[in-house]
Amino acid sequence: MTVRPGGQEVSPPSLEPGVTAFDTRLRTRVLFGPGRVAELGEVCRELSGRRVVLVTDRTIRQHGHADRAAAALRAAGLSVTVFEDVEENPTESNVARCAEVFQRAQPDLVVAIGGGSVLDCAKGANFIHTNGGRMADYRGYGKARTPLLPMVLVPTTAGTGSEAQSYALISHDETHEKMACGDPSAAARVAVLDPELTCTCPATVTAAAGLDAIAHAVESYVCTRANPLSRLYAAGAFRLMASAFPRVLDEPHDLALRGAMLLGANWAGTAIEHAMLGAAHAGANPLTAQFGTVHGIAVALMMPHVVRYNGSVVADRYGELLSIAGFDVGRDPAEQLANLLESWREAAGLPTRLRTLGVPRASLPQLAREAAAQWTAQFNPRPADEAAFRALYTEAY
Ligand SMILES: [Fe+2]
Repeated sequence: MTVRPGGQEVSPPSLEPGVTAFDTRLRTRVLFGPGRVAELGEVCRELSGRRVVLVTDRTIRQHGHADRAAAALRAAGLSVTVFEDVEENPTESNVARCAEVFQRAQPDLVVAIGGGSVLDCAKGANFIHTNGGRMADYRGYGKARTPLLPMVLVPTTAGTGSEAQSYALISHDETHEKMACGDPSAAARVAVLDPELTCTCPATVTAAAGLDAIAHAVESYVCTRANPLSRLYAAGAFRLMASAFPRVLDEPHDLALRGAMLLGANWAGTAIEHAMLGAAHAGANPLTAQFGTVHGIAVALMMPHVVRYNGSVVADRYGELLSIAGFDVGRDPAEQLANLLESWREAAGLPTRLRTLGVPRASLPQLAREAAAQWTAQFNPRPADEAAFRALYTEAY
């Protein structure tokens, strides 16, 4: 207790119950603003880079973004080798092909420009190039014996927030299960957030990636690993994207809206890096692995059901998010947030039912088994076992 000058006793502001301490480090410099990709050469020279491998995919190259990045690097006197064959949800063998290019070019710096798949493939190839072996060897966290080469990551979608995370998500060659491979040195030295690059993003990608990023903010805000710093980022991310998402689909060339989404996705990614995710991602991953459902579509489909499921435990937290984003909070914040997420999904024209995704009803028990075994499931604020996932999938069907 402290006592005010007037004599009245007041309690000092306190952190939420259960939080006693945390240890966290922001590792990545963030450059934000339209046109900043032009500074890529300078940024890399500051990191003492001379030979760069530039990782990208063919679509990003066709849009001219990769050539713009390469030109900026060459103008600063760096030599550039391009790998442009990243596939969506990169597999171990895709990563191995990228690492072969690293082996030939012997870079001292890695630059990646593209969506989450591109950034993850670059991180994965960096693991293999610096430490050998195969991706499965690095599953988990902190298994690299030699630090990875420094990386500069340039996202072209507002989605995964991979540029803020020290994990690469790489798919197993046969099962397509996503392996999370992390290491402190897999965090980018610099993230360049240039909203101009996201203006070429097709509407369906903007929608799916945007709702994925919003789900990152919501899930990380309430997960059992959340702490005051991760919540600061998650809440800021939700506020930015709640305002921008409903409008960016109609105004895809509005740089302020694109910027809000890109920064929101980055902050949500930062929140995950310092906390975790929950049952919506645990439920979405098996859909992607088994049926090839686009990650953001799967997450957007599961998310409202998970919010309702979690309502009995973290309704007040959902109310905080709604309030921070400027909504009047009603009596049932979980239902209100679930409805809001559904309205955004509908406005974006994304699928609303599992049955429309070619998922047979008979596969739900197997999907539930896999969902319950996902790493992220154990950080959901309300415990979610196989039976819980069966119920969630049934509701979503
Ligand atoms: Fe996600």
